[in-house]
Amino acid sequence: MYGIQKGGEMKGFFNSQILQPKIPPGHILGGSHRVKIGCNACGLYKSCLTPKMKPTGDGRKSILIVGEAPGAEEDKRQTQFCGDSGRFLEKKLKQVGINMNVDCRKTNAVNCRPPRNATPTTLQIDSCRVFLFEEIEKFKPKLILLVGGSAVQSFLGGRIKWRDESFSINKWRGWTIPDQDYQCWVVPVFHPSFVKRNEDGGDYSSTIYLEQDLKRAADLIGAPFPILNYEIQTIDTRQNSGQKYVEKLIQAMLERADKETFPVAFDYETTGLKPHKEGHQIISVAICDNPDKATSFLWNSGLSNVWKAFLRHRNILKIASNMKFEDTWSRVILDTAPRGWYWDTMIAAHVEDNRSKITGLKFQTYVRLGKLDYSSHIEPFLAGKRDEGELGANAFNRILELDKNELMIYNGEDALFEYLIAGIQ
Ligand code: URA
Repeated sequence: MYGIQKGGEMKGFFNSQILQPKIPPGHILGGSHRVKIGCNACGLYKSCLTPKMKPTGDGRKSILIVGEAPGAEEDKRQTQFCGDSGRFLEKKLKQVGINMNVDCRKTNAVNCRPPRNATPTTLQIDSCRVFLFEEIEKFKPKLILLVGGSAVQSFLGGRIKWRDESFSINKWRGWTIPDQDYQCWVVPVFHPSFVKRNEDGGDYSSTIYLEQDLKRAADLIGAPFPILNYEIQTIDTRQNSGQKYVEKLIQAMLERADKETFPVAFDYETTGLKPHKEGHQIISVAICDNPDKATSFLWNSGLSNVWKAFLRHRNILKIASNMKFEDTWSRVILDTAPRGWYWDTMIAAHVEDNRSKITGLKFQTYVRLGKLDYSSHIEPFLAGKRDEGELGANAFNRILELDKNELMIYNGEDALFEYLIAGIQ
């Protein structure tokens, strides 16, 4: 009865998968970001004094600082962060109790000095990335400080498969990320040369951000690392026993809701973005009322009565990411207006922090929970089909081509992460 079926149709009605971090501590990811594209490919080694500079620093507090690239002074002295901006960072770290050269190990996104200290190109960062991950594997940092956008690009490039793959430090600074793949805290901060330049021009706003972010990072030293373990239960309601199981589960929630209020995240997977066009359907539904486990089931019209009662019950405090989506599909397809809307993780993310492109569930799941990619294998099937002139919000997607169990696991993860993020918010 337990265990996951890989591919094909499900045999039992009930599957349960405990999902744990992909990478045990001390191991590193495979995948495109680890592919050696040849460190000499970028050619920078030809023009600098210290080609392929090795990481330096004692690293006694297991902190890894990743900068952009060596400058003139670093190139001469064969060590990172020893020029003007390095000394500036050293001073700021000292203010929060971190000794840069004793407590930290230092490296850069690019290990050869680019001529005229130009911002590294994507080719240069990609060519050098393998050294960063080798260092992470060897040094096993508990905290990684990503100093500037190039460092963010080095660490996340190739691992992010979102449509909007932006490494701008403006979007990334301010988060303290419990990266589940590497089981270490990741803290992006402004680059000290940017902050120093602003200060020289009389603008201290970025100084305040840098100091705040470093303080947050310092507070994480010695803090327990929150490992994300959870279970997704998937139920095939095409079998009578599966349908009965879901009915009972929801019935129990309804009985509880007659006595008390409690939050539940719910999420639909559907044939498109907007339900108004003839033929659109809900394919699966996921619900989550606790931090450890979500339940996902294939939609089945035999569940209409019990599900509509769930939607209408005011004491079931409903959580979603972009509640307008679940609300509209409930109204249009099920002819039911949900009551008890309680929390929208997207709106809350925007209220808390009004930077652009940060409110989506995938971004929030990484910065809040440290889970980077759980959906890239599913997403192509959820994008609108481009045939039959069906572009735009009413288009049908390819959800029906997906393995049902894979779809439900993804659906369950969405609901569980929405529940957890709402709790943090
Ligand atoms: N020194 C470095 O080594 N890297 C930087 O990014 C800045 C100064």
